[in-house]
Amino acid sequence: MDNKKVLEIKNLTKNYGARGFCTTVLKGVDLEICQNDFIAVMGPSGSGKTTLLNILSTIDKPTQGSVMLGGKDITRVSNKELSKIRRDKIGFIFQNYNLLDTMTLQDNISLPLSLNGVSSKICIQKTLEFARIFDLSDHLKKYPYQLSGGQKQRGAACRALITNPEIIFADEPTGALDSRSGKSLLECLKKVNDSESATILMVTHDAFSASYAKDVYILRDGMIQCRLTRGEDRKEFYNKITDMQASMGGDSL
Ligand SMILES: Nc1ncnc2c1ncn2[C@@H]1O[C@H](COP(=O)(O)OP(=O)(O)O)[C@@H](O)[C@H]1O
Ligand SMILES: [Mg+2]
Repeated sequence: MDNKKVLEIKNLTKNYGARGFCTTVLKGVDLEICQNDFIAVMGPSGSGKTTLLNILSTIDKPTQGSVMLGGKDITRVSNKELSKIRRDKIGFIFQNYNLLDTMTLQDNISLPLSLNGVSSKICIQKTLEFARIFDLSDHLKKYPYQLSGGQKQRGAACRALITNPEIIFADEPTGALDSRSGKSLLECLKKVNDSESATILMVTHDAFSASYAKDVYILRDGMIQCRLTRGEDRKEFYNKITDMQASMGGDSL
């Protein structure tokens, strides 16, 4: 069965700088994301991953092209509508957590719901539900400074998921974590993709992270160059990704 289309990116182009000093970072990116997809867009540092994600999450505007989310081109809607889209339809996981230091983990996680006027009973219920999935149940009363990087990032993931957004964007979510905490975050993301039908688009330079996704797209020279689809086995998929990397020129991928 084909899943519902969530996001459709067409001919996305982004130039930085003024005429004469202009660099084209994205040169016509096309990508379709359906419900319950877990996609990793992989490319080396400087290949335009953050630029792409910033456009998709409405933080930045493209030079050309369209991004359809829920039947609307989000590159062309008013600022008022944008804040609604950000609030209701999109969840974001940043590389550096972005938790609020003055709030407990529990309040950080439930913040998107409480800002929406959801009752505290429901806020607590949903927070406990996601904290259990992300192995944070014993840490909810702590403040960010009392948590490890991995716990903070798993908390940030709960915060992104708690409104059941149509799509979660993650920009190098394991970038600031040691390998063990990175692995546990990726396993949790896989779990919410498998069991809660969350739709995830992650960008990363790292083949290990990418191997947790169901599909990997390689971003190179401003375009999507190819797509790799995972079978059952993650390790096999990791090898497939690194083989592709090697065949495309190793580090310069
Ligand atoms: N605001 C900006 N102004 C000018 N150049 C930028 C800006 N943001 C990013 N770039 C350039 O665009 C390229 C892609 O950057 P980025 O999207 O951050 O790549 P990645 O996330 O893959 O490392 C880089 O060469 C970077 O220097
Ligand atoms: Mg980046």
